[in-house]
Amino acid sequence: MRAVRADITTLETDAIVNAANTSLLGGGGVDGAIHRAAGPELLRECRTLGGCATGDAKITRGYRLPAKHVIHAVGPVWRGGNSGEQDKLAGCYRRSLELAAEHGLKSIAFPAISTGVYGYPVTAAAEIAVKTCGEFLRDNQSEMEVIFCCFSQRDLEIYQNLLAREMR
Ligand code: AR6
Repeated sequence: MRAVRADITTLETDAIVNAANTSLLGGGGVDGAIHRAAGPELLRECRTLGGCATGDAKITRGYRLPAKHVIHAVGPVWRGGNSGEQDKLAGCYRRSLELAAEHGLKSIAFPAISTGVYGYPVTAAAEIAVKTCGEFLRDNQSEMEVIFCCFSQRDLEIYQNLLAREMR
């Protein structure tokens, strides 16, 4: 596991994860950027999926992206922390990794799901991201490359600190 600072639409991983909404029909933030970069075929495939529950994920092809696949995960809206947000956010990371493993993918890049428009505090969200992915890799003896793609320098520092602790 490692963290980088980048626009996730530029990464050449087997999959990039989208921070989507339950409709899977696009939106702002990283979702808008991914749909713009992938082209209209992505929306066409998303329309066939029938949406996605919060805490779950669905996979599509990557179309014009350098990444081969997009895994669309739906994070929770932050409502103060007593509405099951932690479990739902952990579900996004776990389900995305399960889908990647089922499809034989070797590398996956995650944005900081729910920490933009959905208002999840970044450090708390990053703790769940690193812990859930670390557990998945250990439990499944997986060699998958997991990249946390940070949009800001501050987010990158948060992830790097957590990863230094997790990998000790
Ligand atoms: N590459 C990497 N990270 C990015 C990029 C990018 N190109 N653009 C934004 N981020 P958000 P959410 C970061 O709001 O909170 C959409 O409308 C951003 O800085 O994209 O899960 C969906 O359709 C932040 O750290 O997702 C949903 O309705 C992180 O990505 C809703 O927003 C997530 O911010 C989902 O909200």
